[in-house]
Amino acid sequence: MSGMARGQRFDGGLRPEVEKFLASASFDWRLLGDDVAGSLAHVAMLAQAGIIDPEVAGRLQEGLQQIRHEWETGQLTPDKGWEDVHMNVEGRLHQILGPEAGYLHTARSRNDQVALDMHLYLRRHEHETAQNLRGLLEALARLARRTLDVIMPAYTHVQPAQPVRMAHHWLAYAAMFQRDAERLQDAEKRVDISPLGAGALAGTPYPTDPHAPRAALGFSTLYANSIDAVSDRDYCLEYLAWASIFMVHVSRLAEELVVWSSREFGFLSLGEGYSTGSSIMPQKKNPDTAELLRGKSGRVFGHLMGLLTVVKGLPLAYNSDMQEDKEAVFDTVDTIEAVLTVLPGLLDHLTFDPGRLRAQAAAHYSNATDLADRLAAAGVPFREAHHRVGGLVRQLLEKGYESFEAVPDHVWDRLAPGIPRSWLGSLTPEALVEQRRQPFATARQSVLQQIDRLEAWLQAAPQAPST
Ligand code: ARG
Repeated sequence: MSGMARGQRFDGGLRPEVEKFLASASFDWRLLGDDVAGSLAHVAMLAQAGIIDPEVAGRLQEGLQQIRHEWETGQLTPDKGWEDVHMNVEGRLHQILGPEAGYLHTARSRNDQVALDMHLYLRRHEHETAQNLRGLLEALARLARRTLDVIMPAYTHVQPAQPVRMAHHWLAYAAMFQRDAERLQDAEKRVDISPLGAGALAGTPYPTDPHAPRAALGFSTLYANSIDAVSDRDYCLEYLAWASIFMVHVSRLAEELVVWSSREFGFLSLGEGYSTGSSIMPQKKNPDTAELLRGKSGRVFGHLMGLLTVVKGLPLAYNSDMQEDKEAVFDTVDTIEAVLTVLPGLLDHLTFDPGRLRAQAAAHYSNATDLADRLAAAGVPFREAHHRVGGLVRQLLEKGYESFEAVPDHVWDRLAPGIPRSWLGSLTPEALVEQRRQPFATARQSVLQQIDRLEAWLQAAPQAPST
């Protein structure tokens, strides 16, 4: 049956191991619905333009719809003899209609056909991803509201640096995912282009109207150049690049959940529905869901590198190498969908230990910068103030004190001349966060405004028209 594309050109068939090697039906099967949608629009145009008989077109369309139904209900499975989903549809149509099925492929090539299928497939999934991303941002807004008054230490170099409201920390992730949403919206423009009608690469000699199927399939524009139409895989690369950046954000968030749920940090716990036990150590509660959210980034980055490598150096126009785009895109779509299904619920089920977070925010001299700022406000040049406070911290640490507050008065007076101990009263974690009042900073009012802005953005973000 591999004869369909070989026609009379060859005497013999493909060697069986080669037939298996070339086949893509096992993984491009998921395109069948899109393939049929494209064929229905193509057939309608052929009839409209007088290229095929309208009655034949009607029978082709009925046959195609039957095939789609058989696929949806699981009655149709790939036939080993037909290498890809496109040949399967045509082959099955031939079984239904006989030789009349052969009119379907008039004025079309599998090159523009597969490009069209991938555009339809990705357009739908990008739209769905955009909706799911909103769900994640909504979960982050809820989490931010829930942790507005939880004070925690923020870190640089994984060293405790300055206290912040925990909501402020989560809102940093919301900002990343908002950028992802905007980036995706932009990428959607470049998937919203129809390649159908480009034929093998040069267009077709029939009097076709490529704008008719374009409009019927809801694409905004037609490719400007038919060679580009069949060669372009930028929209696949762009999706994979988008997904990679998104997974960087997911992975950083997941890493913090893993580390913060450790005994050593003890900042938070994952919900029981998101954790597992150990098969050997009965005391363990493992943050597997967060670990796998972090780990899933690897395969997504790999798919981006893989497809970049496939496309790099390919001469125009279609080359069979391009069949390798499928598994990269499909696995990425599946991965992103799984991540966006799990992550919002994971965030909703986090629980915190505000007492421990506050204590850690107060420890480790996290108010040292602000003590230096007080000195600077009293007229000491900031560099010198930094120097003096740094020296004080070193001496106190040597004496075993873990915070300024733990130092008795007589020791303070001896080691910190010219730094009134009373200043410490305005250097509590609560005071420190409230003193940072810029719109992007960590004072209560600032963080509330950030949450309000996120919620307003969610309200206003356009719900892309469903396709
Ligand atoms: N299965 C092929 C792919 O996924 C379809 C296009 C085949 N075209 C061709 N001229 N061999 O890319």
